[in-house]
Amino acid sequence: MRGELPAGTKLDVVRHRELMALLDDIRAHPAHYPVLPIDAPRAALHAANPDADPDDPSLLLVRVDGQCRAYLGLTPQFIAHGNGNGKDKVFAFSTLLVDAPLRGAGIADRLLEGARAFGPLLTIGNSNAAQGFFRKRGLLRLPPYRVVYLPIGAGHGWSRLRGGLLRRLNRRGLPRLSVFAGDLFDRLRPLAILSRPRHLRRLREHLPVEAERNAQACDRVPDACESLLDRLAGRVVWRVATINWLLDCGAAGRVEGQALPGQYHFRFDGTPRSYHACLLREAGVVRGLAVYLCHRIHGQWTVSILKAFLPDESWRGLVVAHALDLAAGHGGDVIRGGDDFEALFTALRDGRPAPVRLRQAYADAPAEWPGFDDYQESFADGDIALY
Ligand SMILES: CC(C)(COP(=O)(O)OP(=O)(O)OC[C@H]1O[C@@H](n2cnc3c(N)ncnc32)[C@H](O)[C@@H]1OP(=O)(O)O)[C@@H](O)C(=O)NCCC(=O)NCCS
Repeated sequence: MRGELPAGTKLDVVRHRELMALLDDIRAHPAHYPVLPIDAPRAALHAANPDADPDDPSLLLVRVDGQCRAYLGLTPQFIAHGNGNGKDKVFAFSTLLVDAPLRGAGIADRLLEGARAFGPLLTIGNSNAAQGFFRKRGLLRLPPYRVVYLPIGAGHGWSRLRGGLLRRLNRRGLPRLSVFAGDLFDRLRPLAILSRPRHLRRLREHLPVEAERNAQACDRVPDACESLLDRLAGRVVWRVATINWLLDCGAAGRVEGQALPGQYHFRFDGTPRSYHACLLREAGVVRGLAVYLCHRIHGQWTVSILKAFLPDESWRGLVVAHALDLAAGHGGDVIRGGDDFEALFTALRDGRPAPVRLRQAYADAPAEWPGFDDYQESFADGDIALY
């Protein structure tokens, strides 16, 4: 049965311009934050989001008797109208948590109500619990989209083994043992991935890449690429500034551990993550652009193809070739991309179907909203966002 909101419950909106001040408050009054809404690297990264205005909401906090017990993170981003004219700001959920002892009392409702006051909402990569909540509150269920995986060598099996064991130990309430086992697995990992260079070479040989084309890594995307992004854009608006923000985040995000450890409830394990971009050239002329994230997700070292701006599908081989280079340089058990990479991944697996995971997104938007039928994974996805 639905409980009552505890007495002394208060909703606080932390605006974009107040993010760093919140961090100071967390440092000054740790006892007020039994649930930690954000850590230092993440706050710095979100504070630099070029799509955020100073008054945009960044975090909604529920405090009970002055103590933070729940939070909802919002990442502003732009979505283009279907007809290509104009764009709307939406607030993508980057995180949502209600402290376990207070669940079932209407606190998530309070957070959602607070978020709805700001405009259209988008949620993605949700837990089962969150999905149940969103459905109950009538959020629009978007067509799920497929994330497709290309395993690249023995490290893949090793990571799966590691992930499975750690999950089992954690479920049995043995977190200390799981930390020890995780560390041991990481130390022995080089043995498991000895065979990777051979796999990478083999995959590369089978990639369709035209001789006059090449992918050139870049630390910053030149302003001149803005028109290319406009021309090849999908539903989520990526500007040069957006991509450069992610690239800067990649540099800033390489942190050792967490600045404020302890109270996180999700997978914020502080492992290094980095964003990368490459310019795709043909006979020296830039024709496209791809953005990647190297990170550990579900226990696997993953190179995610976040976004590929391509003149046509014949460029996909080159995008994957660059992902393989990143995998070789940054460690990688698996490459993942949207379902437009499925046929290529399957071909590279000699016809065996590439593993697929369905991702469910929800939206809360006015009836005249242009629709999300071609919505694609974005940088605000809770799983891949900035932590
Ligand atoms: C999901 C979560 C935020 C819900 O918070 P909560 O404060 O317990 O939710 P509320 O009490 O405000 O419930 C609001 C409504 O959603 C429903 N609801 C809540 N959790 C639900 C669940 N797991 N499945 C189905 N419905 C759910 C409630 O029944 C209630 O509806 P009702 O009043 O019509 O019965 C909370 O369970 C949580 O933090 N879970 C762990 C973290 C997590 O999964 N976060 C999401 C990451 S994407």
